[in-house]
Amino acid sequence: MQPRYSALNQALHWITALCMFAVLPLAWVMTNAKVGSSLQHATYNWHKTLGLAVLLLTLFRIVWRFIDRPPAYPPKIAAWDRALAHLTYWLFFGLMLWMPITGFMNSAYDGYPIKLFNLIATPELFPKNQELADLFATLHALGQWPVYGLIVLHLSAVAFHLIWGKNGILGRMLPEGAIDAGTP
Ligand code: HEM
Ligand code: HEM
Repeated sequence: MQPRYSALNQALHWITALCMFAVLPLAWVMTNAKVGSSLQHATYNWHKTLGLAVLLLTLFRIVWRFIDRPPAYPPKIAAWDRALAHLTYWLFFGLMLWMPITGFMNSAYDGYPIKLFNLIATPELFPKNQELADLFATLHALGQWPVYGLIVLHLSAVAFHLIWGKNGILGRMLPEGAIDAGTP
């Protein structure tokens, strides 16, 4: 039987992935929406809400990963491949902290408190400071490029293993019996 991530780790992975795949298109729409439109307000608020969900999920995941360890790789996965996967995951975790924190600081110093789910107003936490708001906006915008790079790398690695490796690596992140485990 192929070893798999625990059900909780799988749930955390897929919920985070869904949030990420929503946060990014929301960012592209909101930064191009008509200024002051309800579309602009709604997309900003959903971007921030789901971005904060990524922050909370990632903080929990980092701690939980030391208790509920990832499963061992099958011996046929090369050492360089494991090392690259490991590096990708830690860079992902780092960026999934960096992005929401810089986004939050940008928003807070810009004088735009978050309306959670586009519904629940939150208080203004810091006095407005345009210099700091601009600094965090730059740091936030710069962070998007490594995020895109890692997503391309991660999805290419999954595709590579499925198409060439036929080693059922995707099954490690899915319930038992979902994917053919391939030849050991
Ligand atoms: C995983 C989390 C996040 C990702 C991947 C992400 C990604 C992005 C991207 C790609 C942009 C467009 C940048 C540009 O080209 O200007 C953006 C803009 C922005 N994000 Fe996020 N974001 C995240 C979380 C957050 C959070 C939690 C907040 C606030 C609480 C936030 C606030 C903002 C704001 C205010 C902008 C517009 C910045 C500007 O006007 O230049 N983001 N975000
Ligand atoms: C932006 C979206 C995504 C992010 C941020 C992400 C992030 C991650 C991270 C951090 C891990 C390591 C988990 C750990 O060791 O605790 C992981 C593993 C994994 N992800 Fe994703 N993922 C995303 C989307 C996807 C998608 C769309 C797929 C499938 C097509 C996928 C398939 C997998 C698989 C199969 C593993 C386990 C691989 C292994 O055993 O080394 N991920 N992902």
